Amino acid sequence: MKAIAVIPGKPDSIHLRDVPAPRLEEVPDGRGVLVRVLRVGVDGTDKEINAAEYGAPPPGEEYLILGHESLGRVEAVGPAVAELAAGDLVVASVRRPGSSLYDRIGLQDMTTDDVYFERGINLRHGYLAELYAESADFLVRLPEALREVGVLLEPASVAEKAIGQAWEIQRRLRVWRPRRAAVLGTGTLGLLASLFLRQRGLEVVAMGRVEPPFLNSELLAAIGVTYLKRRVEIPADRINQGFVLGNKVAFGSVNASRDDFERGVADLVRAELTFPGWLARLLTHRVRGLESYRELMDTLTTARDAIKVFCEVAP
Ligand code: BGC
Ligand code: ZN
Repeated sequence: MKAIAVIPGKPDSIHLRDVPAPRLEEVPDGRGVLVRVLRVGVDGTDKEINAAEYGAPPPGEEYLILGHESLGRVEAVGPAVAELAAGDLVVASVRRPGSSLYDRIGLQDMTTDDVYFERGINLRHGYLAELYAESADFLVRLPEALREVGVLLEPASVAEKAIGQAWEIQRRLRVWRPRRAAVLGTGTLGLLASLFLRQRGLEVVAMGRVEPPFLNSELLAAIGVTYLKRRVEIPADRINQGFVLGNKVAFGSVNASRDDFERGVADLVRAELTFPGWLARLLTHRVRGLESYRELMDTLTTARDAIKVFCEVAP
């Protein structure tokens, strides 16, 4: 079958290649699911992998199939899969378990291992191919209503995790009631995070460096978010003092757990009802077919007005 791959370590090595088709039987314990890929979104991570900044192939191979933001349709399931059936719309998560305690309880997004396994990024092939096989454990089902925008679920899960972590941290304040939030950056993640915070009833201010009005600031206005164009100078000493005297916390967040994907599904469905058509406006650049890998990478690296660039692998 066809796939879009890179040779990790070799700059701008993106290419189309013929690779062995995956089989259900590759997945242990009869838990295999064979998925036909419909759409795959691309982002800065793919750009950086193609620039050879990071990324690694599966052990023993020289190429890495790109793509970690998927949407596909189940083609067949193994004998021990009851929760999915042929025809279901699914999105696969990205990180696979390593060996830390977190990995063993299904929270590999919180791994303490130095090496992590991520499909389309590090040591595991991604989804920019005609088909992929995966354990049902790592697939999330979407309602048919999300057919058009479901490719946004992986980035949505990353925003969900960050918001969930912020909530967990604030709980230390016992009587805290969330009212206001600021979002830095108005790319796909900033837009989705703003949306999900609005859907939780918060007043949201999003900040970026582009002079409004432009598509992203208009999208924010449409969901009642204020956009501020700011250049910020960082007085590191005052910030540090503020952290101590104000009991503040800074934290980092990456990747997402199964729960974050499930919450993402609920919030995307909610968005379709509350702001019909809004999510589809994030899908600014569609590139048709795996053969158009050049156009896919060029659009990703040069389109100035892009929010989400995606490959329509199958119509
Ligand atoms: C992906 C995450 C991943 C991270 C680090 C991001 O682009 O969306 O799932 O954990 O890259 O590799
Ligand atoms: Zn990503």
